[in-house]
Amino acid sequence: MKPDVLLATRLPGPIETALDEAYTTHRLHQAEDRQAFLAALAPKIRVMATMGKADAALMDALPELRLISSFGVGYDGVDVAHATKRGITLTNTPDVLNDDVSNLAVLLVLSTTRNFTFNERYLRAGRWPKEGDPPLSHGIRERPVGIIGLGRIGKMLAAKLTAFGCRIGYHGRHKQTGQPYRYYPSLVDMARASDVLIAMCPGGEETRGIVSAEVLEALGPKGILINVSRGSVVDEAALIAALKAGKVGGAGLDVFAHEPNVPEALIAMDNVVLQPHQGSATEETRRKMWDLVIDNVAAYFAGRPLLSPVN
Ligand code: 8YV
Repeated sequence: MKPDVLLATRLPGPIETALDEAYTTHRLHQAEDRQAFLAALAPKIRVMATMGKADAALMDALPELRLISSFGVGYDGVDVAHATKRGITLTNTPDVLNDDVSNLAVLLVLSTTRNFTFNERYLRAGRWPKEGDPPLSHGIRERPVGIIGLGRIGKMLAAKLTAFGCRIGYHGRHKQTGQPYRYYPSLVDMARASDVLIAMCPGGEETRGIVSAEVLEALGPKGILINVSRGSVVDEAALIAALKAGKVGGAGLDVFAHEPNVPEALIAMDNVVLQPHQGSATEETRRKMWDLVIDNVAAYFAGRPLLSPVN
């Protein structure tokens, strides 16, 4: 008999297909009565797959739960403390996306500083022959760039931007040994010293709104904010207000407070480059992320060590 696996959310098609083939799967998101569905399954669910979401109530409805295999490196939607208390292991999909997420951050840095999307709209709208060349943009060599969160992706990003000649600083909870970059214990100080500020830290309560009105004001009218981490890290209302008032020069955003909804105010701004959460969205990287979700489940049932445990 195939073991049972609960799909707590929708998952990318290839993950669902692979899990459907190997296990008896149960789709919580399709249940009409969640409580009854969970109560009926509770005795046999040891493994759950999810797209980054599992709260304490869901875990507690499943007393036999031992593994949460989550899609995505970020697990701010999972109550990890509760999982740990319950003896449930969480796995995520780290490392395989470092390259593409840091590439997207570089892309946003270059497109914002070079007015890339504005210039393309300018050309397509037929303004070039009528109005002449668009305004000059800016280079990034020798310019100070502050990275919030020098983790695995942040380090790769720092190395890539160093190749472009940027002067890298970082902010995080601790100064890291052996890093050639300047550490700022204060985010406001780093924002003040930076031309480009990049949020590359995990989401969750610890980082909620840390890119605040005060930080944005410190970044200043020529400063650019890039966010490729989580929408929750930035006070989105404060960002919109700062952009409108010219207190911040521009923004490159891949993530938002209420995805997939993006505030009209941001969509209307010419100095903002927007992406629909594309950091890890390449076929190559997504395949590796899917495999990690599937292989962690397989490892659990085979009694092998898990590939990417978080807790
Ligand atoms: C995914 C991500 O787009 O890995 C993450 O944490 O944010 C992205 O790679 C996301 O998990 C899909 O919901």
